[in-house]
Amino acid sequence: MLDQKLDPNYRGGDAKTDVFGSDAMLQAAPVEKIPAGSTTEQIAYQMVKDETFAQTQPRLNLATFVTTYMDEYATKLMNEAININYVDETEYPRIAVMCQKCINIMANLWNTPETNKWKAGALAIGSSEACMLGGLAALKRWKARRKQAGKPYDKPNLVMSTGYQVVWEKFCNFWDVEMRLVPLTTEHPTLDVEAAIKLCNENTICVVPIQGVTWTGLNDDVEALDAALDKYNAATGNEVCIHIDAATGGFILPFLDPDKKWDFRLKWVLSISTSGHKFGLVYPGLGWVVWKDKKYLPEDMSFTVDYLGAEVTQVGLNYSRPAAQILGQYYQFIRLGFEGYKNVQYNSLMIARYLDRQVSAMEAFEPYAPVELPNPIFVWRMKPSFQATAKWTLYDLQDKLAQKGWMVPAYAMPANIEQMVVMRVLCKQGFSRDMADMLIADIQFAVNELNKLEYPTPTRIAMEKNLPLKTKSFNHTGK
Ligand SMILES: Cc1ncc(COP(=O)(O)O)c(C=O)c1O
Repeated sequence: MLDQKLDPNYRGGDAKTDVFGSDAMLQAAPVEKIPAGSTTEQIAYQMVKDETFAQTQPRLNLATFVTTYMDEYATKLMNEAININYVDETEYPRIAVMCQKCINIMANLWNTPETNKWKAGALAIGSSEACMLGGLAALKRWKARRKQAGKPYDKPNLVMSTGYQVVWEKFCNFWDVEMRLVPLTTEHPTLDVEAAIKLCNENTICVVPIQGVTWTGLNDDVEALDAALDKYNAATGNEVCIHIDAATGGFILPFLDPDKKWDFRLKWVLSISTSGHKFGLVYPGLGWVVWKDKKYLPEDMSFTVDYLGAEVTQVGLNYSRPAAQILGQYYQFIRLGFEGYKNVQYNSLMIARYLDRQVSAMEAFEPYAPVELPNPIFVWRMKPSFQATAKWTLYDLQDKLAQKGWMVPAYAMPANIEQMVVMRVLCKQGFSRDMADMLIADIQFAVNELNKLEYPTPTRIAMEKNLPLKTKSFNHTGK
């Protein structure tokens, strides 16, 4: 009987049995082929759910930038819209208009000078698609200018720091753009503006400063870059512009540092992208890109449709895409308002700064950069003097914290300072002061345990021998 039940073709009446008494629970989950027959919803649900059961709870995932908490009504609203394809605009015209309202709100948060009722922008699946669209528009504008001037247009380049997120490497690969990189160094923990200008020439499609650098949490100085580019353009006759990758900062700066000029108030900033699913406080995937004016969005990248009296501009790489995120974003704008966003981002930033003070006070650690954190991202490293005699590395600390359920990534910095290993915590909505205290206690406990080691750990030995330090998981910088 038991043998017969193990036969994958045996059917014994799953519908009447308790889920864990069913035949399916005795069998391996499909890996290569679709199962021959069907099973009940309950069993299929349980099997799929259980495959992810042992994972970190999303709210303990302090590696991700992406939203891991939304309130009940937001979740309900998004679940109710789960079967809506955004691209079916004729069927769901009000969602297309709602999307355009979100673009307007983003554009105004970034101080757009555009006077058209509907601002030039696009919905994206995340910052990656939004960056691609911003970069592509810059490439097309540059090409059009070169063509018109009768000059060659086959060697475009783009300038940014080595703190770039992988999407920019993809962009340059996909569209054959040379990537010109300014190294991050200990003296220049953000984009070195002078060095960036030196890399610009008549073929530069744009410079891409980042607000909320994935590796460091810091902001490139866009105002200084804009002033330097203004001088450079005046002297050379070139028209090198700026696309800002504000994946994180796009939703932090308007609320926490509204007087800081980093956005469309600056002359050469022609487009900005962000992630609605990061500090926009919406579950993935959602991104936004906005152009300073419609004239900066090449006509062949977009088409315009008229819905319910609203002229809606469509731009995108993907065709079908979920609509639920738009409802989620619009809900958050209404639910929180400016004041509410400010409160949430303020708490996240204060908790990150609190972590900074607590962790940096520990004997073993120091912050990556000795500055007041501009974003709710805290990056720290082992003090070189402590590292000299320690028998462990931050990778070991990452493993220890994972045992308590925390996902806190350790990773090596980019080329030039790659010997520096750091650790990073993203403080997001859903990570309270109380949770921060629990994390600090777990870090302290883990450090005490690691300090008792008599022999060096494998990662410490690898570090000593200059061998590649393998992290067990993906690269948390998105590279
Ligand atoms: C600066 C920056 N740009 C782009 C991205 C890509 O964002 P997304 O995951 O929304 O595609 C990230 C992701 O962390 C990022 O930090």
